[in-house]
Amino acid sequence: MKNSITITDNRTNNSYEFEIKDATRGPSVVDISSFYAQTGMFTYDNGFTSTASCTSDITFIDGNKGELRYRGIEIEELATEHSFLAVCYLLLNSKLPNEEELLDFDLELRHRSLLHENLRHLFQAFPSGAHPMATLSAATAALATFYYDHLNISDESDYQEMARRIIAKMPTIAAFAYRHSIGAPFIHPDIDRGFAENFLYMLRAYPGGKMHRGIYGEYTIKEIEIKALDTIFTLHADHEQNASTTTVRGVASTGAHPYVAISAGISALWGRAHGGANESVIQQLEMIGSIENVDKFIARAKDPDDDFRLMGFGHRVYKNFDPRAKVLKGLQEQLKDELKLDSNLMQIANKIEEIALNDEYFISRKLYPNIDFYSGVILTALKIPTSMFTPIFVIGRTVGWITQWIEFKKTKGMKITRPRQLYIGK
Ligand code: SDX
Repeated sequence: MKNSITITDNRTNNSYEFEIKDATRGPSVVDISSFYAQTGMFTYDNGFTSTASCTSDITFIDGNKGELRYRGIEIEELATEHSFLAVCYLLLNSKLPNEEELLDFDLELRHRSLLHENLRHLFQAFPSGAHPMATLSAATAALATFYYDHLNISDESDYQEMARRIIAKMPTIAAFAYRHSIGAPFIHPDIDRGFAENFLYMLRAYPGGKMHRGIYGEYTIKEIEIKALDTIFTLHADHEQNASTTTVRGVASTGAHPYVAISAGISALWGRAHGGANESVIQQLEMIGSIENVDKFIARAKDPDDDFRLMGFGHRVYKNFDPRAKVLKGLQEQLKDELKLDSNLMQIANKIEEIALNDEYFISRKLYPNIDFYSGVILTALKIPTSMFTPIFVIGRTVGWITQWIEFKKTKGMKITRPRQLYIGK
């Protein structure tokens, strides 16, 4: 049997044959790149629900099983047994680091976490209260002016250096964006602190880098907070060809600077249908206010004439529990006493989940909680301001975006992204 599919045009009885390419895991693809040449027609796929845009060996998702793997390793193992930096190394190098490799990688990122002093002036240009996502996108694009030599890179060591630089600097850019939004002086990264701790330090420290020593003198960055944030970064690290990664690959396909591709990814992620959902979930839980109001909002989410949607529910790929949501739910349970999670918000979230998972509307559409449904309650308990939720998604996802960017550049024969249309004009 030939590994192909034949399509017949019933208007003319003409048949057209297309090659099937098999995956190492998951669905095969039908190569329709000759479809227009053979048939004179385009295929149409709103939102690319059935379209593969590339080959990749970075991340695998099985939406029916609720399975997620980075470089073949399941997310549950990575989130519980490895640090975020080890996961960054895995994504970039296709293997987990040994102790020495991890130490070198960590030290390099610490040294690269500083921003050029001139960038401070860029932040000053924004009004206080500016949403950190807008500042993050602008500042990341501005980095391209400092590393212009990276416009024409073509070898692995250049790619890896450019990747380590942007991964290292994103927490600093995000922290500076936040500090500016509240009119507070910047806190420079402290190279004696690890990745996640340093981010909390840059958010919380007082001028001069003094940490407020809680009323009992305890250090105000707890180990449990560092571990929780590190896990959250890992869960957000990559996710196949989602909307923002597709945006990054689109910019990569024109040959623009990698840091403006990441900036475009940040912009795409901001939308509440995508990464911005984590901020919207908390706003929605606060708007619902009490478990007595949940039924009313579930009814609104089901009403076809009401554009209200349950933020944090549903997913293009997961038609089962998002495995990242499961890890976060477990983390919520683990942290609820230590970090005094907001029990009212948790009760409302659990009530929504309980009703939605037993309601025909959600069951028939296979709408389950996604990663954004649970991250907000934990981030709130980490005293992270809501406006910083999506920037935290950016810090986690930067490694995924830059790894996908490198894969695009290294894949032979990748073409500029340029879809066609169904013209319905005059
Ligand atoms: C992320 O793609 C990724 O991998 C993204 C991400 C990543 O790591 O990169 O996983 C991160 O973006 C997670 C998703 C965060 N977004 C939200 O939580 C926003 C709320 N969810 C939706 O807007 C929606 O579910 C999407 C955008 C996530 C998915 O949209 P799809 O796949 O295009 O599905 P759809 O909009 O066509 O909806 C199918 C049906 C519709 O009903 P009918 O028209 O068939 O009657 O399900 C309904 C929708 O109305 N529906 C919802 C709903 N989500 C879908 N109804 C109520 N509440 C919702 N949240």
